[in-house]
Amino acid sequence: MKIGILNSGGDCPGLNAVIHGVVGAADQLGWEVIGFRDGFEGLLPPGNFTVLRPKDTIGILKMGGTILGSTNKGHFAAKVGKGDIAEVPNEIVARAKQTMDDLGVGALVIVGGDGSLTTGLQLYREGWPIIGVPKTIDNDLSATAFTFGFDSAVSTVVDALDRLHTTGESHKRVMVLEVMGRHAGWIALWGGIAGGANVVLIPEMPFSLEKVRDFINQRDAQGYHSTLVVVAEGARMPDGDLVTLDSNEGGEFRLGGIGDRVAAKLQELTGKETRACTLGHLQRGGAPTALDRILGMRFGVMAVKLAEAGSFGRMVSYQSYHVDSVPIEDAVNQLRLVEPQSELVLAAKAVGICLGD
Ligand code: F6P
Repeated sequence: MKIGILNSGGDCPGLNAVIHGVVGAADQLGWEVIGFRDGFEGLLPPGNFTVLRPKDTIGILKMGGTILGSTNKGHFAAKVGKGDIAEVPNEIVARAKQTMDDLGVGALVIVGGDGSLTTGLQLYREGWPIIGVPKTIDNDLSATAFTFGFDSAVSTVVDALDRLHTTGESHKRVMVLEVMGRHAGWIALWGGIAGGANVVLIPEMPFSLEKVRDFINQRDAQGYHSTLVVVAEGARMPDGDLVTLDSNEGGEFRLGGIGDRVAAKLQELTGKETRACTLGHLQRGGAPTALDRILGMRFGVMAVKLAEAGSFGRMVSYQSYHVDSVPIEDAVNQLRLVEPQSELVLAAKAVGICLGD
């Protein structure tokens, strides 16, 4: 038996832990692992791949990024989330399948986010032996309670807030930190709570900057002259504007810039010196946390178990402290968003965090 693995879409800490898990579990079964390079692109003839043996994966558990490379562009790119489903053309699928057949790959593990798993679902429906492993720092896939990479991203946010806290206090400034997460506010909310932010603005909860101004003024009156604000890149300005770095017409677009917009407006409204900082890809890079290493490894081992059982068309999923699986079709195109009335949001409010609502 040969089992293939590829990483597709944006990278995130823990991808190498999945590879480590797949290679270890496959080796115990006497299977060979073929690692395709640069996502689905590695499947195109003549095939861009490497054979992965346990000795090839020594030391990768602690490494960020992916030893296989990844891409969210190319011949197989699908639009992400919110009902935008792109089909990969038949001719590309046929060419890629030829590589699989030539190599004798009997199962293909796709480690990807919503867009890549949507492509995986198409391939499964066309008869491919697909197993999905969910991956995203955004933690916004509905069919899994956690994705690896999220904890590492949150840790980076917390570290940044700890640093912004001290400089903000020294200068009595408002410090605004823009974080990733696309249409979900998980990174902002978890990072904000753990990092001691005073204000957290997320896509799921429309906010008023006048309310944030009043909150900052109230803090001033109480003797707290510095305020830490976390804003998720996908939050909308009060006028409904989604702040993007490029055109958001016709598909995937890059979010970014809301931190500067919020900071400028808060300085105008409060008269307080305000600075913005965008954390960007620091959240995606670097070594995975212990939790992400373990989760990634367990996901990889489960992927091999599914292949052994011939349970194709399924995605590994983490639910109630167990790693299990769900049909890929139940997992894709459904974002898991922050619920404004959830216990987590109410807890944040209970400790005095302003969500601008
Ligand atoms: O989905 C993961 C993510 O890091 C988002 O949080 C962010 O909006 C996006 O990817 C950035 O993508 P890129 O690396 O293509 O700029």
